[in-house]
Amino acid sequence: MSFLRSVRGWLDQRFGWDDLVAPLRKKTVPLHRLSYWYFLGGITLFLFGIQVATGILLLLYYRPGASEAFESVQYIMTQVQFGWLIRSIHSWSANLMIFTAFAHMFSVLFLKAYRKPRELTWVSGVILLFLVMGFGFSGYLLPWNTLAFFATKVGTEITGQVPLVGKPMMILLRGGEEVTGATLTRFFGFHVAVLPLLTTVLILLHVLLVQRLGMSVPPKLEVQWTENPSARREMKFFPNFMLREMMAWYVALAVLGALAAVFPWNLGVKADPFVAAPAGIKPEWYFLFMFQTLKLIPSKVWFIDGDVLGVLAFGLVGLLWILLPFFESDQPSHTKRWITGFAAFALAYMAGMSVYGYLAK
Ligand code: HEM
Repeated sequence: MSFLRSVRGWLDQRFGWDDLVAPLRKKTVPLHRLSYWYFLGGITLFLFGIQVATGILLLLYYRPGASEAFESVQYIMTQVQFGWLIRSIHSWSANLMIFTAFAHMFSVLFLKAYRKPRELTWVSGVILLFLVMGFGFSGYLLPWNTLAFFATKVGTEITGQVPLVGKPMMILLRGGEEVTGATLTRFFGFHVAVLPLLTTVLILLHVLLVQRLGMSVPPKLEVQWTENPSARREMKFFPNFMLREMMAWYVALAVLGALAAVFPWNLGVKADPFVAAPAGIKPEWYFLFMFQTLKLIPSKVWFIDGDVLGVLAFGLVGLLWILLPFFESDQPSHTKRWITGFAAFALAYMAGMSVYGYLAK
């Protein structure tokens, strides 16, 4: 103990450690029957940490390039000690992280945690979700297997439908007109350099905003607690809430470990650009609702191309989604019901379309 104390004293003299952790000691977390939803952001952060750690381990053996990528992943899975497990954890954790990021987003939406003054926490969150989906999209191609190759072909083709900027964006992503080894090199660059850098900066901003503004309270409770301040209940963030959060991380780790060990991630067959696309090719589950919607729109609606219309509609809804907090009332007693209705509809639509997309041929 005295050793730890002297290490702390040493750090304090050099970094002003006590001043640095003082805000954490002052921080409190509101206690109510929905407080457990506050765990979700932290679980997402924990899974991001797992992604960074396992991603670095995979980088020790992975080689980007159309002639080596598949073989290097095969090597990781068959020759490297526990390589299969690390790859399996990385792939499962990516999916769990996207799932928890979505769950976190809908929880802050239904708890109305995006309201003034947390508009920028929301905006940074939506951009984080797009980045996390970008990680999924770029990472999917890296093993260079058949499914990934054709899913990337379809995904980048959809990007090409965006009016005006679509074609240049598609060429930028593909590194040419077609999906080739050049696309793989680019996706590798996005996946291990561009996206991690942007995501780290945004997570820092996001968590800094959470730290500055404190945790929100659902509007009804805020009204009650303002009228009767003695009813307010809260818990110290450090160590009380932090220890509970860490228990949630243990649970996430247990789920992740079990999934990765019991259902090892498949590698499939090496991509061959010259064979026909397998029938019924589908994207990863988090893109399914968009994919299925585009499939259902007729090829021409009036004089507009169906795909273009779909992509435009998703773009507009995405923009509205980012701006949602700016349509909300400042008063906790007058929150906008249409926003909750819109959120519930969006959740039901995404879930319904995903299931439909999964079952459809
Ligand atoms: C990589 C993805 C993300 C990470 C690592 C992350 C992390 C966190 C953490 C640690 C918190 C504090 C604890 C909590 O309320 O859960 C938080 C709060 C918050 N997050 Fe996120 N988040 C992510 C994505 C998102 C997304 C997609 C949104 C919404 C679009 C969002 C919106 C918010 C808001 C509004 C708060 C404040 C909650 C409150 O004050 O009650 N975050 N986030």
